[in-house]
Amino acid sequence: MAVQISPSILSADFARLADEAARVEGIADWLHVDVMDYRFVPNLTLGLPIVEALLKATTTPLDCHLMIEEPDRWAPDYAEAGAASVTIHAEAARAAVRTLRAIRAAGARAGLALNPATPVELYEDLLPEIDMLLVMTVEPGFGGQRFLDIMLPKVARARALIDKYGGDVWLQVDGGVSETTIERCAEAGADVFVAGNAVYRADDPARAVRNLRALAEK
Ligand code: DX5
Ligand code: ZN
Repeated sequence: MAVQISPSILSADFARLADEAARVEGIADWLHVDVMDYRFVPNLTLGLPIVEALLKATTTPLDCHLMIEEPDRWAPDYAEAGAASVTIHAEAARAAVRTLRAIRAAGARAGLALNPATPVELYEDLLPEIDMLLVMTVEPGFGGQRFLDIMLPKVARARALIDKYGGDVWLQVDGGVSETTIERCAEAGADVFVAGNAVYRADDPARAVRNLRALAEK
């Protein structure tokens, strides 16, 4: 699998989202959109109206990461709106298989995210239902947190399970991914890299994306 970079707009200027999206257009593979609801995580960001506005503002496909309660109720709406990838949290879903199938039925890639304390082995049987597995490398909720090195063995175990399954499932890491941590993530087997501060707090976000990609491809 080729390396893919997904800059997180959580670290961008929310008052200028269209401009911020434009800064990585044609350079990043995805734009990562963190949806938070003050319930699943102790932070509040944005929802469907802003995702719909972003879809009109950029040609970069949207990678929507739903850190919300009741994803079964809300996730299909994001896929139907046109998000190219929709990821739900295993800890929040009550009917993960039904919801993942609804996301796919709406034409989006279906992702399943795991908090740091959630074992990947519990979800091995769901691999045929997903297009991407997201191993969180921080506790979800905020950008700019320190990368959790203790998650690297889990990334490697996730890679082994995906390889054993043999299907086309991408392995994403999210949280603290930077020029100093991305190589270790790639070595552990990740292929889709979310980066918030490392891209949007850099002087030149486009150059930061190129640098991250080069390091992950080494
Ligand atoms: C955190 C979010 C991340 C966040 C990553 O809960 O899911 O996507 O934007 O930001 P950095 O890369 O700064 O850790
Ligand atoms: Zn995220």
